[in-house]
Amino acid sequence: MTYDFRTEAAHKPTLYRDPASALEGLVAGEAHAIHNMAHAAPLIFEALPDVNWVGFYRNVDGELVLGPFQGRPACIRMSFDQGVCGAAAKSRQVQRVENVHDFAGHVACDSASNSEIVVPLIRDGNLIGVLDIDSPKFARFTQEDEAGVVGLGEILSRVL
Ligand code: SME
Repeated sequence: MTYDFRTEAAHKPTLYRDPASALEGLVAGEAHAIHNMAHAAPLIFEALPDVNWVGFYRNVDGELVLGPFQGRPACIRMSFDQGVCGAAAKSRQVQRVENVHDFAGHVACDSASNSEIVVPLIRDGNLIGVLDIDSPKFARFTQEDEAGVVGLGEILSRVL
């Protein structure tokens, strides 16, 4: 069995529809959070054009700890007061940053990253962690991307 999620779709809702249904399939019946994150990171990495890092930071006792990811090695721990991920965790709001170099406190893990979106993952009122996606392109993530990534986050929140 092979998986190939690369797509050239320019229409954003279409672009997110395939990875969303693939993700639904991959996590169906699998209750182990690490398995599900480990599948989701490469799936999303391959499905989206112009991304250089896709991964998870888990909320471990109020600290963000690196989880499964695809891309270059990244910093292992961040507080809720650090980085775009910390802002997403603390505010529980999506952070969509057009230029990470203008974001006070941005944590640069890969110098190639220029824009970033971070979606908080919440289940039953608890912050499980965040889904972080970086791009080498400035302003890579639009409102439509945000809707798409939030949709992926909703699928994941149920199984992490
Ligand atoms: N840039 C992130 C840190 C994680 S890396 O991008 C993988 C941040 O500022 O939260």
